[in-house]
Amino acid sequence: MSDSQRLLDPQEVIEENVLETNLRPRFLREYIGQESIKDNLEIAISAAKQRHEPIEHVLLYGAPGLGKTTLAHVIANEMGSNIRVTSGPAIEKSGDLAAILSNLEENDILFIDEIHRLPKAVEEILYPAMEDYALDIIMGKGPSARTLRLDLPHFTIIGATTLASLLSAPLRDRFGLSHHLEFYHSHEMEKIIARSADILKIDLPKEAALAIAGRARRTPRIANRLLKRVRDYCQVRNNGLISFKACDEAFSLLAIDDLGLDAVDRKILTILIDKFQGGPVGLNTLAAATGEEIDTLENIYEPYLLQLGFLDRSSRGRVATAAAYSHLGRNINSKASLL
Ligand SMILES: Nc1ncnc2c1ncn2[C@@H]1O[C@H](COP(=O)(O)OP(=O)(O)OP(=O)(O)O)[C@@H](O)[C@H]1O
Ligand SMILES: [Mg+2]
Repeated sequence: MSDSQRLLDPQEVIEENVLETNLRPRFLREYIGQESIKDNLEIAISAAKQRHEPIEHVLLYGAPGLGKTTLAHVIANEMGSNIRVTSGPAIEKSGDLAAILSNLEENDILFIDEIHRLPKAVEEILYPAMEDYALDIIMGKGPSARTLRLDLPHFTIIGATTLASLLSAPLRDRFGLSHHLEFYHSHEMEKIIARSADILKIDLPKEAALAIAGRARRTPRIANRLLKRVRDYCQVRNNGLISFKACDEAFSLLAIDDLGLDAVDRKILTILIDKFQGGPVGLNTLAAATGEEIDTLENIYEPYLLQLGFLDRSSRGRVATAAAYSHLGRNINSKASLL
């Protein structure tokens, strides 16, 4: 994976944990954007607090890097609850989950990241736990098997997933609150970048913030990462002074264009246009031709190209749009003449 590729990957890189912890908003008032989710959560949180009850189970879904983990911690802080963190793939056996659940205390929050990756048998333990705060333990085997029901404290599950479609219907139904995080608007991205610059004590002129916002693929995690790269560049090449011009140079060096496309995005579009006359072409064929994994292509690169309106998904495959032709400086009429 090249540097610029990693730079625009909305997924978390392990070394980023520390940076992300510092930059993470801790309360709703610091959390920028996602206004309707915040409004709904504020009501649910106040109501639960007034009733001295835990907040209902919350499902947060949306693309990587949009702030699901952050929001889970914000909810815990606002509720004044303890939060325990685990993830779907980390819970292998139903006994593991039973142990976690029976160690919870009243009003605790259990955050399950990548909840779509919970094994089926584990998921079944969650149903009565979420619905009735009960743990059903099966003792013995065969005809003599009995179920023992243990009471659990009143707690909240916050589940996060990038792929809500992979969640089973019974699990999805057990969340009282379900929120889809959207990509951020540009004025929100500017605020997020300004806030991060403040925390990191970076003197960032408005034009430079705009330049970063325009390339961050509407994703806070990418914005924070680009901010760090620009800071490094300016420290080494511009006496620590951040200017629009230096930002531009940094992005040229990283091969990130003014819409935030990197070399791989451009390769995908170029191959689609030059090799397949703009499509339609099946995902597998496109993956093979670009040398990218099918999963990576579908989950990392396509969402942003679709959002920009550079790519269409038709029943017959992927199609490059007129906007993609124009961004790459290709003539769409040449497509018609080839057909
Ligand atoms: N609304 C926001 N306001 C300010 N900063 C934000 C916001 N949302 C996210 N961030 C920043 O983006 C970083 C990534 O967010 P987070 O880790 O919560 O994303 P995620 O949705 O959990 O991603 P993944 O799907 O990869 O787990 C955070 O560390 C935080 O600094
Ligand atoms: Mg997360």
